[in-house]
Amino acid sequence: MTTKTATLTAIVIASQFSFSLAAPSAPISESAHIIPLPNQMESTPDQVGFSLTNGLAIPDGWLFSKQVTRILSENGIKTRLVPTENEADIQFKQANGINKEWYQLQVSPDKITVSFNAEQGCLYAIQSLVQLIAKDTKGNPALIACNITDQPRFTYRGVMIDSCRHMMSAKDIKKIINILSRYKINTLHWHLTDDQGWRIPVDKYPKLTSIGGLRAQSPVIGDRDKPNGTPYGGFYTKEEIKSVVTYAKERGITIIPEIEVPGHASAAITAYPEFGNSDIPNYAPKVQETWGVHPYTFAPTEKTFAFIADVLDTVCELFPDSPYIHIGGDEAPKDQWKVSPTAQKIMKDNQLRNENELQSYFIRRVEKLVNERGKKIIGWDEIQEGGLSPTATMMVWRGWVKNAAAPALAQGNTIIMTPNSHFYFDYAQGPRPNAPEYETINDDQLTWQRVYAYNPIPLGCTPDKEHLVLGCQANFWAEYIFNLPKWEYMAFPRVFALAEVAWTQKEKKNAACFYQRLLKQFPYLDSQKVNYRHPETGAPAQPNAVIKR
Ligand code: ACM
Repeated sequence: MTTKTATLTAIVIASQFSFSLAAPSAPISESAHIIPLPNQMESTPDQVGFSLTNGLAIPDGWLFSKQVTRILSENGIKTRLVPTENEADIQFKQANGINKEWYQLQVSPDKITVSFNAEQGCLYAIQSLVQLIAKDTKGNPALIACNITDQPRFTYRGVMIDSCRHMMSAKDIKKIINILSRYKINTLHWHLTDDQGWRIPVDKYPKLTSIGGLRAQSPVIGDRDKPNGTPYGGFYTKEEIKSVVTYAKERGITIIPEIEVPGHASAAITAYPEFGNSDIPNYAPKVQETWGVHPYTFAPTEKTFAFIADVLDTVCELFPDSPYIHIGGDEAPKDQWKVSPTAQKIMKDNQLRNENELQSYFIRRVEKLVNERGKKIIGWDEIQEGGLSPTATMMVWRGWVKNAAAPALAQGNTIIMTPNSHFYFDYAQGPRPNAPEYETINDDQLTWQRVYAYNPIPLGCTPDKEHLVLGCQANFWAEYIFNLPKWEYMAFPRVFALAEVAWTQKEKKNAACFYQRLLKQFPYLDSQKVNYRHPETGAPAQPNAVIKR
């Protein structure tokens, strides 16, 4: 055991015991180690903090006491409800500002004050508070004294989970959500339909999940060109989806569902071939068994739009609080539309000059359906090919396309940055274990340092357009992310870097200081049995975790 591991182990053990009666706090030599770094924080080393030996008293019946109590107790702080605010250790003050994510947190030896405008800010204050837990010089638990005023740099701080290539159980997704909420990530983008599987049930179209949810086989682990002969399938029940959405909401996370159109549609078209380009030669859709881009796109017909409308009704029922529906729009080959007499006639009837304009027509038709249901669309950056709708939000993923965001920004569209060069967390993050199950889709060394150095304001974006950049997101495409331990290995420590890029003003960022704070997160991750990657050795934290498909 190295000295570092021994220290970490000691902290883990220390962070797990419940606090009991003891004397008031002595000075604390440890410094605050909050991720993402608050935008304004004063904390003097070697001050006396707030003793946690008696736990914390929370005012009973107070608006957010359930959520606050949950976060505190998950972090080993004993809480008790007291009848009046005067008896409480935490004074909550609701202000009337407009920024819902703003908060102030003051910790002194005799009191804790939390100010906020809305629930989000209150929860963020508590998430910062639990990252102030330390040991005083007598070895007793206490909160580091500090004075924080904070609000995020960007309003959209996201993570995307791909349940199509490989599924994670609702329970595992909840574990991820709980961890993300600690680091003030506020959006989970849930990729639910693709060529290799359809994962959301729609009552009117049961074959979407019974046929579209099952592929005959997948590539073997360790050789992406060789099929393994083993069927793979599954889908989430409506109850599971609702329970994940509610769980996320309680933790300040909105889930944005993605229904892919017009490409990445093989699974849906296999279940209901009439919604594909069935008039082309050799039409034989199947749920795809290999990764990559496949030619099966939806036909641009009224029948298909009626089907999509039905799907959107279910999506709105299951995701009532998401202001957006992500409609995909990426990697839609035009080969089938080029040879489909029906698609060609639709182009002619609508004076569309080429298949890119047909793609734009398709997206606008779907956008109208989404808008009619009170929501807005997000689409991958190909939605600008053939003309970008003025009301769409564009998610920029093609890091190799020069100035990909420029036309959208010039037109006044909002964008979210998720370039593969910095935010594809399915790429390797440095040397990895030799075991075949640690294979990645791309061996690029997408290190936490590269993520941390990223500025989401794209090159050439003038200051008057910066407000159009809503934020950024990390994508976990799941061809090689078979289950939770592999997800965790790919996620940490890079998710910490993403959180700080999205939250902390760029002038305040400092990679060396971040690294020190990053090391302090491991006791928490260990306590949650998270299989993170050791940033120096590349070794998994849970060497016995089973990550096979
Ligand atoms: C994508 O990676 N095709 C959005």
